[in-house]
Amino acid sequence: MARRPQLIPWRTAGRVSEDQTSADDVVREIGWVFNNETGATLDLEEFTGTGDQEIFAYLTAFDLLSPDIAEQTLVEIGSGIGRMTAGFSKAFGEVVACDLDAAFLERCRQTVAKLGVVERLRTVHVADGRTLNVADGEADLTFSYITLQHCDHNDALSLVGEAARVTKSGGHIALNFRTWTGIDVLLWPLGKVTRALWRVPGFGPWLAKRRMASRLGWQANRLSPDQVSKYLDGLSEKFATRVIFHSPERAMAKRSDAELRTFEGVNPSHWWLVAERL
Ligand SMILES: C[S@@+](CC[C@H](N)C(=O)[O-])C[C@H]1O[C@@H](n2cnc3c(N)ncnc32)[C@H](O)[C@@H]1O
Repeated sequence: MARRPQLIPWRTAGRVSEDQTSADDVVREIGWVFNNETGATLDLEEFTGTGDQEIFAYLTAFDLLSPDIAEQTLVEIGSGIGRMTAGFSKAFGEVVACDLDAAFLERCRQTVAKLGVVERLRTVHVADGRTLNVADGEADLTFSYITLQHCDHNDALSLVGEAARVTKSGGHIALNFRTWTGIDVLLWPLGKVTRALWRVPGFGPWLAKRRMASRLGWQANRLSPDQVSKYLDGLSEKFATRVIFHSPERAMAKRSDAELRTFEGVNPSHWWLVAERL
């Protein structure tokens, strides 16, 4: 794991979060890692408010607000410190928050205890960055937002396979990906340089706390609908429906294996796969 430099900024932010005395301080120090907002007046409530809005917008657009949501189990891959998890815990009967960083998961529990329903929360440490310690078919919905783009390419695909495995028949996966854009001509090489610099003793740990450098260095992976689709085809778990949601600002080629739909809430460099398990 130590050989994967894309993990460095999360672990650095996790360590910084451990030094803070209050949940509001955590948000002021490292909240930008999750929603890119900075400022001395930020607080936990405002932070989770951004998550609540996004949850509602995405679940509505993806038609995943089922009438029996209060009896459903949601698995969240890449929960961070609970920006969305608090809102999920108010809607779903059980929420399984999975993250690479154990300190984030501790903070996630604190966030949900303050602003969600902590009795409904279970946390799962993704120690290897690629497998979920969650039983087969446990989830009605497996959800991941702005996480797979930060993983090693093969880890991201492995987590897609894990999402398929832990989702029950009739349940859904809703996974967010980032694909190539024109700006990647610059971002991609700069990201590689940043990740190499993170390894430099003394300078690397200092750099890993800097916002702009982190934003460059954590862009570790791009996956196109074709790559994910090919991977899904090779899984033993099959899907009854596959829908790709993309921004109306970004055209996508018509496909035979998935329906294409636009949603203005999708970032033009992102796309979502929403699929129902057979
Ligand atoms: C940009 S944050 C998004 C967190 C949350 N989804 C949100 O929107 O606030 C990405 C999260 O993914 C986690 N992460 C990165 N790589 C991971 C991996 N291989 N497995 C599990 N979690 C990972 C990071 O620790 C971080 O908490």
